[in-house]
Amino acid sequence: MGIYSYPIVYATLVKPERRVIEAVKGWVRTHLGHEPRAVLDPACGPAKWLEPFAAKGVRLAGVDNEPGMIARSVEVLRGHDAELVLGDMRELPLARGEFDLVVNLYSSVAHLPDLAAVAQHLRRCRELMRPGGLMLLGLTVHTPGAPLAPEDSLYETPATRVPGGGMAAVHYGTAGINPATGREIIRILLLTRDVPGVPEVVEDSYELLLFSKAEIEALLAETGFDVLEVRSMSTPGYPAAAGGVTTNAGDVTLILRPGTVAVDPAEGAIA
Ligand SMILES: C[S@@+](CC[C@H](N)C(=O)[O-])C[C@H]1O[C@@H](n2cnc3c(N)ncnc32)[C@H](O)[C@@H]1O
Repeated sequence: MGIYSYPIVYATLVKPERRVIEAVKGWVRTHLGHEPRAVLDPACGPAKWLEPFAAKGVRLAGVDNEPGMIARSVEVLRGHDAELVLGDMRELPLARGEFDLVVNLYSSVAHLPDLAAVAQHLRRCRELMRPGGLMLLGLTVHTPGAPLAPEDSLYETPATRVPGGGMAAVHYGTAGINPATGREIIRILLLTRDVPGVPEVVEDSYELLLFSKAEIEALLAETGFDVLEVRSMSTPGYPAAAGGVTTNAGDVTLILRPGTVAVDPAEGAIA
């Protein structure tokens, strides 16, 4: 079992900082022109990116393929108009659509197995969105063959108190690119003490998709999204990247809008 099997520990250790939340809400206001009225996180985890938008009159929806994450989201969003469903981000089995904001940050989309699956996910999101809505998509832009950023350590926390009891700390590292798949190997070490139901040592490893500039452009053209802005998440202040998606831009947030050109879902998926 990996870190996603322990939603309270995950939510305690991996959550957006206040300044990231404020930046993201600012981009939404700028590009939407108003506060969002219906927000979807298609890989919602413990609802850390739904909570900032939770307000009276706002409809929220989250999908995740980990039952514990959905249970946690139900608890966190109790009292709000929220539809939280166990499912896959490619299918998004929701009763209602018409979202004016889709938030898919933290490279969650990179958990999908390949570009065809990402295209399926984007198409489904587009179907569920209102015209003029926004999608925020977090991913890593990397040219095949180029070296990765040299640091082994991607993210780590100090020992932190976990609500409900105990302490936990996590280290996320990169073990480079798997030459067989072209995906980045992420290694996680989670250490806990006295957290009910959680082992003291959890070692986890998974692969994440990396996206070249050309792959992103092809995916967006195929699925019918326009790029409004690209924000660099590895640079202080999250500046807008001049010229849109640039080669080896690293961690970025793409601010997307469904285009006005109809996309034929029967068109061939990207190989
Ligand atoms: C990096 S976490 C982000 C969670 C959440 N968006 C947040 O802000 O905290 C990625 C999440 O994606 C979920 N996930 C992975 N593959 C998925 C899939 N194919 N469909 C739906 N959820 C998936 C994991 O269970 C995990 O909760």
